[in-house]
Amino acid sequence: MLESHIKLVKDTWFNVVCHATEAGGIFYEKFFELEPNARALFKEDIQQQKHKLVMAISVIFTKVHKLDHIEEEVKFLAKRHVHYGVDVAFFRSFRTAFLSMLQIILSEQNQWNREVETAWESIYDTITQAIIKIMQAEQLAKVKK
Ligand code: HEM
Repeated sequence: MLESHIKLVKDTWFNVVCHATEAGGIFYEKFFELEPNARALFKEDIQQQKHKLVMAISVIFTKVHKLDHIEEEVKFLAKRHVHYGVDVAFFRSFRTAFLSMLQIILSEQNQWNREVETAWESIYDTITQAIIKIMQAEQLAKVKK
């Protein structure tokens, strides 16, 4: 992982968290437009959803220094997602919604450019690939039981 990517994510994540209400609104509107069936997995309270987005961003931020052991770091989070009924197929739309939200929020702060986009993509992809791998193993183990 490039140090420059880590630095760019670290330099920009706080601005997203500071605009959590707007960021959450943009993200969930886009995500549920792409995946209406995922709506039922979330609790009704919209405030909680915004809170969850901040938690998801914070996971990315706190794991950014631990990418060498990323599977170990996200193991329990990934298993909880299987328990929530999340299908790995949702991750594609989650990524699309997440990156559109970042683009809108960080453009407003004059912090969006190609380098920032690439940095978030590469760190986001490293983390979610680990989550997906563990979720798939967990789902397989469930089927075998
Ligand atoms: C970057 C990928 C993701 C990260 C870092 C992430 C992170 C989180 C975190 C931190 C929570 C709070 C509860 C906990 O720690 O277990 C959570 C809850 C949840 N996440 Fe994710 N998540 C991701 C992707 C997804 C995807 C693709 C879905 C698909 C629908 C999803 C659905 C949920 C649901 C349903 C909950 C529980 C919500 C509730 O109780 O209302 N997450 N997620």
